[in-house]
Amino acid sequence: MIIAAFESSCDDTGVAVLDDERVLSNILASQTDIHARFGGVVPELAARSHLESISFLLDRSLEEADCKIDQVDVFAATVGPGLVGSLLVGLSFAKGLTLASRKRFVGVNHLLGHLHAVFLAFPQIQYPFIVLLVSGGHSEILLMKSWSNFSRIGRTRDDAAGESFDKIARMLGLSYPGGPELEKLASSGQASISFPRPLSDKTILDFSFSGLKTSVLYYMRDNPHEKKEDIAASFQSVIIDSLVEKTFLAAKLCEVSTVVIVGGVASNAALRERARACAIEKRMELFFPPAEYCTDNAAMIGRAALEMARRGAYSDLSENAVPFLGLV
Ligand SMILES: Nc1ncnc2c1ncn2[C@@H]1O[C@H](COP(=O)(O)OP(=O)(O)OP(=O)(O)O)[C@@H](O)[C@H]1O
Ligand SMILES: [Mg+2]
Repeated sequence: MIIAAFESSCDDTGVAVLDDERVLSNILASQTDIHARFGGVVPELAARSHLESISFLLDRSLEEADCKIDQVDVFAATVGPGLVGSLLVGLSFAKGLTLASRKRFVGVNHLLGHLHAVFLAFPQIQYPFIVLLVSGGHSEILLMKSWSNFSRIGRTRDDAAGESFDKIARMLGLSYPGGPELEKLASSGQASISFPRPLSDKTILDFSFSGLKTSVLYYMRDNPHEKKEDIAASFQSVIIDSLVEKTFLAAKLCEVSTVVIVGGVASNAALRERARACAIEKRMELFFPPAEYCTDNAAMIGRAALEMARRGAYSDLSENAVPFLGLV
């Protein structure tokens, strides 16, 4: 089954072509340069930029996949969550192609896409498993019993992990997007400052990062000469400890021995290292998608669409964008 998938939920335009599980091409046009001077994503500019590049990206993606448009069996696009103007570009484009070619269409939940990124590299993962989904807008722990049977057992009570990285990076004067920049800065610092550990009670599976953010803000105000590298390393160490401890606690409480970590923050090398050490200590299996599939991309949307298509879960062309779509 040949799938052409589109991802345009935020500020990256992604187009991928898959032949069943095999990714034939996965192209991403970043809008970082457009939004950097504003310090964050400007929704109207994001939507316009998607519109300008999507057709060209499809041509390139098909060319790289050595595939003709009429060989595509299924068109797939992200339906939500995300910025409505941005979502509408990919969604309308995919629906238009479906209508013109009389093929099938699958509307994909972006979060389900993040989750399926791990199957692109590790198709052998067996249910049940615990998922930590950590991205720009979400921080959730899910218990996956099967493809369709899953429940959320932990979530952030305020900021998402990626959002916290971005906000602290901004406070440190780093450029947008902040997560990777903060990781770079932290790698040359020492985690010498003891910021408070949020919701450290061993029975709570929820996260909370806004108090940590406030502590960093006050610390910077009161210690203007502190090395920024050490502030970054200390903040990163607390947030990673919280993510890893709660995730492995969830696995223990649910009596599950496989852990999967996905989403943009999962590309953080310090998080990967800390989680790997914890998995070895607790004798659990641990999987991450390759870094290129952690942040937004269309291959993960295509992979989730493949699962849906295999189950006959095609979408109607009346499917609309859902900016606040959840996973459960
Ligand atoms: N190496 C890294 N370390 C920490 N955070 C990172 C790293 N790389 C990316 N991030 C963060 O991941 C987020 C982007 O991830 P992703 O693309 O999955 O989020 P999103 O699509 O904006 O949000 P969502 O998927 O929740 O709708 C940003 O907040 C970014 O700062
Ligand atoms: Mg995302």
